[in-house]
Amino acid sequence: MADPRPRVVIARYIPEAGRSLLAERFELDEDGSAELSERVVGAAAIVADPTVPVDGALLDAAGDPLRIVANFAVGYDNIELDACRERSVIVTNTPDVLTNATAELALALMLAAGRRLGEGERMVRAGRWHGWGPGQLLGRELSGSVVGIVGLGRIGSRVAELLHPFGVTLLCATRSPKPDEEARLGAERVTLEDLLGRADFVTLHVPLSPETRHLIDEAALRRMKPGAVLVNTARGGLVDSAALARALREGRLFAAGLDVYEHEPLVPAELLELEHVVLAPHIGSATTTARDGMARLAAENVIAVLEGRAPITPV
Ligand code: DGY
Repeated sequence: MADPRPRVVIARYIPEAGRSLLAERFELDEDGSAELSERVVGAAAIVADPTVPVDGALLDAAGDPLRIVANFAVGYDNIELDACRERSVIVTNTPDVLTNATAELALALMLAAGRRLGEGERMVRAGRWHGWGPGQLLGRELSGSVVGIVGLGRIGSRVAELLHPFGVTLLCATRSPKPDEEARLGAERVTLEDLLGRADFVTLHVPLSPETRHLIDEAALRRMKPGAVLVNTARGGLVDSAALARALREGRLFAAGLDVYEHEPLVPAELLELEHVVLAPHIGSATTTARDGMARLAAENVIAVLEGRAPITPV
């Protein structure tokens, strides 16, 4: 007999912490081998993630029963929000639970890029290291530097908190003023242009949208302080990677630390060639704590909506 319970399609995978909550209540479709457009037919909920494009065609394939798309991520640029709104489909994301993990990775990339860790590790592994050298792999210290945080949302704020023991001067560029938060964190709000011109380390924490695509373009990179370090743990589309590679090749920037790319999983060849870029494989939220929290929150959003309550973290 067919399962009479609402059907929830998990597009790829979520950890057991959230999966079990769904399995107790709903019929689960987790068979990633079939086409998603076929799996969603008649589904009441889709659990998506940043690699799963959700557009009008997918929503139409699901049809009338579809009530919610729960993204297993804080970012939701993979989802066409207008298409969801037009079809009265609720969209949710997973804020907060991954804030610390992502902020810690941003800090790790600042340190790794500033101290040329990737380059050094490759040297050791390749047997090209012949012992301590007085002028070997000289880097930049984070302590005492000027750090520019672009976007003072949850993750940007957490980065600021984590930076306090380093005694840095904090600048932030935000769309609207947040005087209480700026005061709490000791961050001076400046324009993006000003921030780029003054910061030794620039770290990006804004969502990707048509307004922020290529926020860091050729002109922005030319405004950056010579010898600065750029870190991106937000979305690849924020940075024009060809322009970034040029800035690094020409020695205008000291280094970059990247966790995200414009057309993942493609990493531009021009970046792969450069020694002074630390390249991480989109692991900002990749801790057990964060991923379990994301799974639970995505599941709780689905449960709330399918049981007739308001979503917990709607977009
Ligand atoms: C997000 O949450 O948006 C990350 O990119 C994946 O965890």
